[in-house]
Amino acid sequence: MASLVRTSVEAGVGVITVDNPPVNALSPGVPEGILAGVEAFVSDERVRAIVLIGAGRTFIAGADIKEFGKITSGKKRRGPGLVTVVHALEDSLKPTVAAIHGFAFGGGLEVAQGCHYRIALESARVGQPEVKLGIIPGAQGTQRLPRLAGVAKALEMCALGDPISAAEAHRFGILDAVVPGAGHDDLRAGAVRFAGEVGDSKETHAKVREREGKLCSPDECRQLCGAAAAKVRKVRRGHAAPLRAIEAVGCSVTMPFAEGVKRESEIFRECLFSTQSKALIHLFFAERQARKIPDVPKDTPVRPIRAAAVLGAGTMGGGIAMCYANAGIPVRLKEVTQEALERGMATIRMNYERSAKRGRFTAEQVRERLALITPQTTWDGFGEADIVVEAVFENMALKKEVFREIDAIARKGAVLATNTSTLDVDEIAQATSRPQDVIGHHFFSPANIMRLLEIVRGKRTAKDVVATSMMLAKTLRKVGVLVGNCHGFVGNRMFHPYRREAQFLAEEGARPVDIDRVLYEFGAAMGPLAVGDLAGLDIGMRVRKEAPHLYPPGVRRPLAEDALCELGRYGQKTKKGWYTYGDDRSRHEDPEVDALLLEISAANGIERRSISDDEILERTVFALVNEGARILEEGMALRSSDIDVIYAYGYGFPPFRGGPMFYADLVGLDRVLDSVRILHADHGHWWKPAPLLEQLAAEGGSFSKWSAAAA
Ligand code: 3HC
Ligand code: NAI
Repeated sequence: MASLVRTSVEAGVGVITVDNPPVNALSPGVPEGILAGVEAFVSDERVRAIVLIGAGRTFIAGADIKEFGKITSGKKRRGPGLVTVVHALEDSLKPTVAAIHGFAFGGGLEVAQGCHYRIALESARVGQPEVKLGIIPGAQGTQRLPRLAGVAKALEMCALGDPISAAEAHRFGILDAVVPGAGHDDLRAGAVRFAGEVGDSKETHAKVREREGKLCSPDECRQLCGAAAAKVRKVRRGHAAPLRAIEAVGCSVTMPFAEGVKRESEIFRECLFSTQSKALIHLFFAERQARKIPDVPKDTPVRPIRAAAVLGAGTMGGGIAMCYANAGIPVRLKEVTQEALERGMATIRMNYERSAKRGRFTAEQVRERLALITPQTTWDGFGEADIVVEAVFENMALKKEVFREIDAIARKGAVLATNTSTLDVDEIAQATSRPQDVIGHHFFSPANIMRLLEIVRGKRTAKDVVATSMMLAKTLRKVGVLVGNCHGFVGNRMFHPYRREAQFLAEEGARPVDIDRVLYEFGAAMGPLAVGDLAGLDIGMRVRKEAPHLYPPGVRRPLAEDALCELGRYGQKTKKGWYTYGDDRSRHEDPEVDALLLEISAANGIERRSISDDEILERTVFALVNEGARILEEGMALRSSDIDVIYAYGYGFPPFRGGPMFYADLVGLDRVLDSVRILHADHGHWWKPAPLLEQLAAEGGSFSKWSAAAA
């Protein structure tokens, strides 16, 4: 315990240092240590004020999230709760000062709010991100933050969960001062000086819980809460915790402090025991677990990536170049013709201008980023690049030709990445003399926005190329997930049956608008048919043409989208697909589509019937799950949680469902298998249960607990 929290006395100031790497979470032992430090210093005559500071790279990143699972599974929590620590700091007879660097998140910010004063380095960030874990602040943050920052700011921070900078926190009164300097020593010295001054002052040191000046009237509070709720219903659709956080913050105005904190505590527990919170906490750890590759240990050397080159300035190449520029890495962007290059650069400029208008970048940042992109039609500088990324048309012959050219020009040791979405990475690698340097970097559209990066490991890809790619994903602010080399890799391979079933449902009588509504209500960003329209129905049609092995003779194939394409209905780009689209992209049902579906059913002997919402959900989501099980069996994903991360970050699967595999675990694999068996009996071929699903259902197991290594 002593090692998690240290104390020392410096210039008459007692310093309590939390030292619980990597992020000083409030794990068992830390609250006890802080409490013991405060008690000791209050009775230590040498000490006139107390500083709470974090060792290493941060202040306190919050409660220990691993502990939540123990609470919900009924294990008793050891030691004092956080609230006891917050009160000890606030009721201390000597002034307490939180000295913040890195992050003061969640319980970390709540502990800081217990202090009489808060100061921080300019680089620090503070926030109440609990809603991202499906919970609300649980150590009285919803009652103290409005007293410090005002109700509107507290609502925003507690309901959306996004952190703010030290400067902003200072402006809103969360921080009392921003300390000059950049290093931990500057903060520590500044904090001791600050604490010494307040310790010498005769002023009373206000307790945040007693500060009422920033609380608004009940009427205004109702309005602010209403506006905040309307916003989160839009931007966090389906998430329960943000609305509960708003309810709790509202109590800071409508109830006395003591009652407000009681209500907060009740809501906190309700959220903690919710399925949404389990799902979101699962994703939090899943995202971090995905970085761990069993045979590529953390200390595997990586190849430094200081300069990049991208081939193809189309939809993906342009977005990928932006990712590098956004990370401060200079990038050369090559096209075949000047015209295509100019078109690509115009799109890049337009995207940056749009971001600047939305306040994501300043004009200066846009200029800096654009200056890092060198558009060209030659190979100039490709020989010096540390990574070459290919993003030309999806055609194997072209990819091979391009990789032969890259092989001839790239320097020894450069990483050679392909952004192919379906093609065989090994076959592409064979076109080079260095298959060990070749890897898939499968970005998602729009590449500058979407967080997912599937990293496709070929048979001969070197371990340091895998390690470099995982590191690079973080540099590019992506969530990198390692996948195997199979048709469509993980994400698109599963998406294929999901969208196939959506088409089958439409051919069997479900209205397109109902299919999309069911998945939207489930929480998906968009229904499967609307997604098809967005991506372009011609893409799927091309895949079906170019990969005939996917539909062997005698097996039912989806007909609707090919038929829509034949009518020139490619989706949003032609303003017609499953729906018609207005100039403002508004979506409308179209009788021509209904007639087409009737025609397809009649011509192919498909019986039309009324289809329930439950069937729509099972046919689509269990299609993902059954394919996911096969992917796991084949080792194309390292673990089921990797699949969940892919779906949450790349395919708009509702994060509060935890991803398709976690969702299946929650439903129960025996129940999933029962449904899959019925679907197999009714629809044949495509619904053959995956052996792993059968095995786990029989064992009473789950995808989350299954590991290929142990199997
Ligand atoms: N509890 C337990 N483990 C944590 C943790 C936490 N609060 N925060 C981070 N970790 C672990 C991660 O799992 C990871 O472990 P690993 O190395 O074994 O995979 C390690 O710390 C490093 O984390 P990151 O890889 O995420 O490090 P980054 O530097 O990229 O990010 C961070 C640091 C911004 C602090 C990020 O980790 C983060 O956002 N953490 C969660 C913060 C949070 O949600 N706090 C609120 C918790 S809930 C709460 O406080 C309830 C209260 O109101 C009662
Ligand atoms: P696109 O058609 O928008 O762009 C391709 C560009 O490559 C064109 O501008 C073309 O002029 C250029 N090009 C062709 N040959 C070239 C060469 N030899 N040298 C330099 N440039 C050349 O295509 P898009 O959509 O950007 O796709 C590119 C790759 O990314 C494909 O492999 C695709 O499967 C993959 N992908 C596409 C996604 C999408 O949503 N569009 C998502 C993920 C991957």
